[in-house]
Amino acid sequence: MKDDVRRAEPDDALDVAELAGQLGYPCDEATMRARIELARESGFRDVLVAEREGRVRGWIEVAIVELIANDPFCEIHGLIVDQEYRGTSLGSQLVAAAEAWAAERGLDRVRVRSNVVRDRARKFYERLGYTVTKVANVFDKFL
Ligand SMILES: CC(C)(COP(=O)(O)OP(=O)(O)OC[C@H]1O[C@@H](n2cnc3c(N)ncnc32)[C@H](O)[C@@H]1OP(=O)(O)O)[C@@H](O)C(=O)NCCC(=O)NCCS
Repeated sequence: MKDDVRRAEPDDALDVAELAGQLGYPCDEATMRARIELARESGFRDVLVAEREGRVRGWIEVAIVELIANDPFCEIHGLIVDQEYRGTSLGSQLVAAAEAWAAERGLDRVRVRSNVVRDRARKFYERLGYTVTKVANVFDKFL
């Protein structure tokens, strides 16, 4: 099945926020609306959504990463498909759209960091041609 995959609009905020909650990052609609607007205006990152049956059922966030030590690359900063719709190709379509987004911008690499506890996500990415190149500790310090 081929679904409508497109750039997120501010009016997608409610659906996108609900899905963020499923990913473990709950967020209210107004906050999500502001975040989508910021992403749209940034010029270097975007949120893409997959719509099925009139609602957004999944989203992916992509960004261009520019660092001193690397050529610019694309990083997937989040991917979620509605739990009722998993295993029905929405995730693969979103990753394909992210790769097209990167290629349109002249980028030749896509990176995604996935928590090691997400075992199915690892298999999902490997099936799409991604390989694990690094395993890292993540440090946070609250100021
Ligand atoms: C990982 C995820 C985005 C895949 O999207 P999807 O639409 O279910 O994927 P597709 O239908 O295109 O591909 C199905 C494959 O995804 C993988 N998969 C991962 N989690 C799955 C789930 N909960 N249900 C079904 N398939 C899942 C499997 O490898 C599956 O293949 P299989 O049926 O042979 O086991 C989605 O399952 C999800 O949102 N999971 C929870 C959040 C998450 O892990 N996000 C990625 C963090 S980086």
